[in-house]
Amino acid sequence: MQKAKLILDRDYVIGAIDPRIYGSFVEHLGRCVYGGIYEPDHPEADKNGFRTDVLRLVKDLNISVVRYPGGNFVSGFNWEDSIGPKENRPARLDLAWFTTETNAFGLHEYIDWCKDAGIQPMYSVNLGTRGPDAARNLVEYANHPGGTYWSDLRRKNGASEPFGIKLWCLGNEMDGNWQIGHKTAQEYGRAANETAKLMKWVDPSIELVVCGSSASDMPTFVEWESSVLDACYDAVDYISLHRYYGNPTGDTPGFLARTMDMDAFIKTVASVCDSMKAKKRSKKTINLSFDEWNVWYHSGGQDQEILKKSKWGKALPLLEDVYNFEDALLAGSMLLTLIRNADRVKIACLAQLVNVIAPIMTENGKGAWAQTIYYPFLHASTFGRGISLRPVVESPTYDCSDYQNVPYLDIAAVQNQDGSVTVFCVNRSQTDDFMLEMDLRAFGNLTVKSHTVLHHEDVKAVNTADSPDNVIPSEGPGGILENGKGTVTIPALSWNVLRLQ
Ligand code: AHR
Repeated sequence: MQKAKLILDRDYVIGAIDPRIYGSFVEHLGRCVYGGIYEPDHPEADKNGFRTDVLRLVKDLNISVVRYPGGNFVSGFNWEDSIGPKENRPARLDLAWFTTETNAFGLHEYIDWCKDAGIQPMYSVNLGTRGPDAARNLVEYANHPGGTYWSDLRRKNGASEPFGIKLWCLGNEMDGNWQIGHKTAQEYGRAANETAKLMKWVDPSIELVVCGSSASDMPTFVEWESSVLDACYDAVDYISLHRYYGNPTGDTPGFLARTMDMDAFIKTVASVCDSMKAKKRSKKTINLSFDEWNVWYHSGGQDQEILKKSKWGKALPLLEDVYNFEDALLAGSMLLTLIRNADRVKIACLAQLVNVIAPIMTENGKGAWAQTIYYPFLHASTFGRGISLRPVVESPTYDCSDYQNVPYLDIAAVQNQDGSVTVFCVNRSQTDDFMLEMDLRAFGNLTVKSHTVLHHEDVKAVNTADSPDNVIPSEGPGGILENGKGTVTIPALSWNVLRLQ
């Protein structure tokens, strides 16, 4: 058995964890909305057509915010199509995903669903084909109490109270040439600034996320952030980061090391924000919204086949990645990276929520189940609330194709509101259990209350409709903690939650 060491202290603090890092994302894409959260003909649908089996799985996840309605979809979307009587709403070609959008689920349905799920809305405006005028009308419709054209239309459509949407995204991935209405950084920066100005004039209480790069390997990364922030620093509050990883070559050690890139990505964007703060002589700090993150690579070929056969179809089964056990380990590490960067990352969204690269899968008319990646998110969002502690870790490391000195044990620690401490740990070693020596003397006499583990002998093991419990958490070997010192056993290739009380 290998050895590693962890020291935690009350005074080694990264920062308070913003609950909004436990967010998710619902896009009008594939079966995320239709057949996912909304399926009026489903036996478990409620009076609004919301699937209550899906709602139960969503509620258990303790999700704080849900970004909506896109994604690439939003860059061609007319929000006005999604309000008013359903029979009058137009069906439109969606040029982002080459399908047909019926608009049967729209803005009011989203707000009702968020209320039912206990989730805060986060709404994206279209800066691809549209601009400041549509965006300011939308804020007036959603947030102005009444007495104007748009706010009275909302009331007429059944919502007498304003929706009070606080968080807004200024478009989506505008740096990517796949985006409808793709822009240069200068074009987008100006558009974002003017749109932000108008939106905040309508409702000064809102917060705005401007688009950063759509991935850390975009050729324009850094230059994009710099130019965009130069154009709109005073008008916005957060900058977005998006990142998906995959393991197409079956290189498990390399795949599990991808969070080295994620961490560097976060730190680089924070540096660009701070250098712009210095350039502007500003007192305001721009924080980060990591509003798309996940594993995404399983479904690529399948999507091309589906679109070849059914271009312009409705609610096609697109991006339906079936996640395996190693994907859950990387998703866990991505969550740990967010927790360890709690001082700068204030919002994060697991992309997406249901069916489309999602922790929850459904069959139309039938059941819903949790994918492997559901469990690390469930544990982090349940026990990862409070103060992110700076873990001092001594762990053996390994080298792989893209990274050197990757610690086998990836650890984040949280001081919870009730005084307990939660240690999250991914063991990246495929062969070795670890004896983790812990020194937590500054916390007094904590004991190991529980040790939960996610492990499977087969890294490619998945959960399916017929076998939904193939990869599920179980009780771990635990350990002893006395007078602040002790050891726990961390099994090879595992996700671990240690609750210390
Ligand atoms: O989440 C799927 C897609 O990934 C989103 O629409 C887009 O923003 C990103 O490229």
